[in-house]
Amino acid sequence: MRAVTIRESGGPDVLEWSEVPEPAVAGDEVLIEVAAAGVNRADVQQRKGFYPPPPGAPEYPGLECSGTVAAVGVDVTGWSVGDRVCALLPGGGYAERVAVDARSVLPVPDGVSLVDAAGLPEVACTVWSNVGMVARLSAGEVLLVHGGGSGIGTFAVQFARAIGAVPYATARAAKHDTLRELGVEAAFDYTATDFVDEIMSATDGHGADVILDHMGAGYLPRNVQALARNGRLAVIGFQG
Ligand SMILES: NC(=O)c1ccc[n+]([C@@H]2O[C@H](COP(=O)([O-])OP(=O)(O)OC[C@H]3O[C@@H](n4cnc5c(N)ncnc54)[C@H](OP(=O)(O)O)[C@@H]3O)[C@@H](O)[C@H]2O)c1
Repeated sequence: MRAVTIRESGGPDVLEWSEVPEPAVAGDEVLIEVAAAGVNRADVQQRKGFYPPPPGAPEYPGLECSGTVAAVGVDVTGWSVGDRVCALLPGGGYAERVAVDARSVLPVPDGVSLVDAAGLPEVACTVWSNVGMVARLSAGEVLLVHGGGSGIGTFAVQFARAIGAVPYATARAAKHDTLRELGVEAAFDYTATDFVDEIMSATDGHGADVILDHMGAGYLPRNVQALARNGRLAVIGFQG
């Protein structure tokens, strides 16, 4: 089969469409016939030579993909050949086929194309693990998302609305219309206004029950001022 491989560290021109070995499928894995792969900053970092794949992962990039199940390991239950899926990967998604731990595979919802689904796992798992599992955002609570127009931010806004929470976001003004379409109660232009004042005013002094911040450490003291009593701050490490 073929995969997008990295000839040497560098710009996009170092990517090549190469023959690579067919992946072996372990007992706890499924083999996915890849339809599409997401492009993440980490893939770009890998191409530049700053993000070595973890031990055991293919040398070529690809941290998420979508496709159809082509084979199922002997110990796997719950997946069948032909299922439409997307998956979070340690690498190797830029290929015609990839073998992945069955626990990292998600069904593609009806009405979602395989191309769109390829961009779901990274943001979905990151937002769910931080905002859902750790910060425990629940229905009726206020979420403030910094960088609302980002990949992480746009997913977090939709996730909050889907569970009945009330999302607000910081973003440049040019992104506010889109953010309103995605479900924010209001968006704050961080280049022109103070988000602490804005969230306090918008929530009648309550503040944010949960803040999701992927902006590095710069907002830390201001975030604390913007939190409601018993509020939770989820910080995603910044990767330069
Ligand atoms: N994407 C993923 O799946 C993923 C997974 C794990 C971790 N992460 C981490 O999460 C972070 C975000 O990744 P991403 O891919 O979602 O980012 P992205 O799509 O590249 O967007 C970055 C955003 O930051 C906003 N921004 C910049 N300065 C800001 C400020 N001072 N205040 C508020 N917003 C500001 C920009 O919005 P404006 O245009 O409005 O300035 C832009 O929308 C990174 O640290 C990444 O390593 C991402």
